[in-house]
Amino acid sequence: MTTRHPGSLLKELDLSKARFLALIAQAAQLKQARAAGTEHPRLTGRNIALVFEKSSTRTRCAFEVAAHEQGAHVTYLDPTGSHIGRDESIPDTARVLGRMFDGIEFRGYAQDTVEQLADHAGVPVWNGLTDAWHPTQMLADILTMTEQHPGPIEEIAFCFLGDGHNNVARSLLITGALLGMDVRIAAPRSLWPPDEVIATAHRLAADSGARVLVTEDVEQGVVGVDFVYTDVWVSMGEPYEQWSTRIPTLLPYRVTEKVMQASGRQDTKFLHCLPCVHDTTTRLGQRLFDQFGLDGAEVTDEVFESVRSVVFDQAENRLHTIKAVMVAALGRD
Ligand code: CP
Ligand code: NVA
Repeated sequence: MTTRHPGSLLKELDLSKARFLALIAQAAQLKQARAAGTEHPRLTGRNIALVFEKSSTRTRCAFEVAAHEQGAHVTYLDPTGSHIGRDESIPDTARVLGRMFDGIEFRGYAQDTVEQLADHAGVPVWNGLTDAWHPTQMLADILTMTEQHPGPIEEIAFCFLGDGHNNVARSLLITGALLGMDVRIAAPRSLWPPDEVIATAHRLAADSGARVLVTEDVEQGVVGVDFVYTDVWVSMGEPYEQWSTRIPTLLPYRVTEKVMQASGRQDTKFLHCLPCVHDTTTRLGQRLFDQFGLDGAEVTDEVFESVRSVVFDQAENRLHTIKAVMVAALGRD
């Protein structure tokens, strides 16, 4: 085992509030420089490995484009093409990749895999989503919230509705608590985040001044919030069969125009990490319609396409924030 590189990002709890906000500030600067055509490459000659056990559009593209724009090269290892985890252990893979690459992104199932990579690679390792956490998503989400709601971050209130047990919900709860925000999860009790995650959020809140609420009550969840956030009801790695139990359980937590109105504010914005089931234009959407008569799942198309929806700003911000993560870890002046 080697010492974990301090530029690694495995979960939100790796970051202090100050470091989290510094990454957001750096991302905002990089975004501005890119738009102005004044971006200065600070990763010239660096090599980055992108290891994916699961599918991705945004995370992979954000790492690739960010690396290219900063002068680095990437190598993409897809879910089937390498030996990782099948006939070569994670520690062995980590030691090989660490000899060749300056940084490693990993997306997959077990949090333990990304932790082991970080323990053995000797270079920064970044979690691009596991079953437990999605930390690079959090940076994009907070950048988006601060763009929409300039002013003290502690004044921002948001509510996640839906599968409160999944990676994104857990990460949002911890992030909001770490940053001193008003963070709420509205979900059926069977899909609340694990008890230890809720306990950690309360512990963080005692220091940060955050207001933490995990509730089954949608109205209590969304009243007065700046942002309503949702995610898919069945996550990558879960079997399709889950839909038949998740749909009846989660329908009351679907983000509809009525839920948006229940915030009591005209300026409440809608967030989603994407991809999203909001109509029948995808194979999954069509299948859910055919089997369950459902036109969209976690959010209605009306809300998704409304002016309140800032989901594509949020998606773009994956690029700027992931760039900040790599530059902060490996950037040359
Ligand atoms: N939000 C997100 O992580 O998207 P991808 O699965 O497309 O990377
Ligand atoms: N909860 C979702 C997030 C996708 C970005 C999943 O893990 O599939």
